[in-house]
Amino acid sequence: MIKIGVIGLGRIGKVHLENIQYHIPTAKVVAACSGSEKGFAFAKERGVQKCYTSVQQMLAEVELDAVVLASPTALHFEHLKLLIAARKHIFCEKPIDLSLENVQFLKKELDQNPVNFMVGFNRRYDPTILSIKKQLDQQKLGQPQSIRLTSRDPGPPPMEFIKTSGGLFLDMAIHDFDLASYLMGSEVTEVYATASVFGELPLESVGDVDTAVTVLKFKNKGFATIENSRNSVYGYDQRLEVFGAQGMLSSTNQADTMVSISDQEGVHHPKPVGFFIERYQASYLNIMKAFIKALEQNETPELSFQDGLHSLTLSLAAKKSSEENRLVLLSEIS
Ligand SMILES: NC(=O)c1ccc[n+]([C@@H]2O[C@H](COP(=O)([O-])OP(=O)(O)OC[C@H]3O[C@@H](n4cnc5c(N)ncnc54)[C@H](O)[C@@H]3O)[C@@H](O)[C@H]2O)c1
Repeated sequence: MIKIGVIGLGRIGKVHLENIQYHIPTAKVVAACSGSEKGFAFAKERGVQKCYTSVQQMLAEVELDAVVLASPTALHFEHLKLLIAARKHIFCEKPIDLSLENVQFLKKELDQNPVNFMVGFNRRYDPTILSIKKQLDQQKLGQPQSIRLTSRDPGPPPMEFIKTSGGLFLDMAIHDFDLASYLMGSEVTEVYATASVFGELPLESVGDVDTAVTVLKFKNKGFATIENSRNSVYGYDQRLEVFGAQGMLSSTNQADTMVSISDQEGVHHPKPVGFFIERYQASYLNIMKAFIKALEQNETPELSFQDGLHSLTLSLAAKKSSEENRLVLLSEIS
């Protein structure tokens, strides 16, 4: 039995805790760390014996094999230093941190204290994405030439979250940057992004935006166009196209039902499913299973620290491009 500690019991920490507790019989959450009493109640109801407010205390008192880090991004650096020093295997929510210097520092720490490290780019484990990737690997399209990703949230997170999340490029678009790189299977060389604020939140005051278009250019000449918005009135919009010489692979939004109604006004379909927790439900379980399996088989997880570093670099390049209104070479960032 792999003994796990979960740090952070907010939106995503709860998903990981329940997946381990109820769906992965070879692992168990034995301790949790949270900033709130609500988090403790949630954990205790799901059989977690020990709850802490301090990561140090949890590490000192409980024997753990691995830790799922789902605390706010602004705390990742402090928490990761403790976890690496304590030699715990780590599943870390994205982004690893907001600063390239901090992530490079952590890389050196990891080199000295090697542990398994997986970053939470769950979309790679979504059944639809897995099918697209498999068909690309089977050369169904030949080399992918152009990827188009639409990624729009049904509403923005609270300002309190945005203030420390790193903003749209680091908190949200980073998933799309990882996915585009994964599907293209090549290194990004250039990034151009442009962004605006259309919604009501005072995002300019914290240097953020709510709508962006990013173009990534890859070494293999391919490119990806990524559209993000935090304000999609028609729901969570997650569409994808990969175009190549032999055709196109595409996936559209998923709805709770496939029932449509046709009337005098037109043909009406249900809205896309809720938000990330509903749309990517299967992916969260699949990625956690992959992490646990890597621990059991003593293998390096396929989604590595380096993937986290790469996508952070793309996010920083996109942010810089939109702020400076120019194309940014990736070599300027890394
Ligand atoms: N992979 C995904 O789809 C996905 C989705 C959402 C969030 N995330 C990432 O997960 C992380 C958490 O995001 P969230 O939306 O769940 O945030 P959240 O604000 O909902 O939850 C954060 C949790 O951390 C707890 N916390 C605060 N201080 C703490 C401390 N010192 N020690 C331990 N716990 C502490 C809070 O009490 C809260 O339970 C972020 O890095 C975010 O980018 C990833």
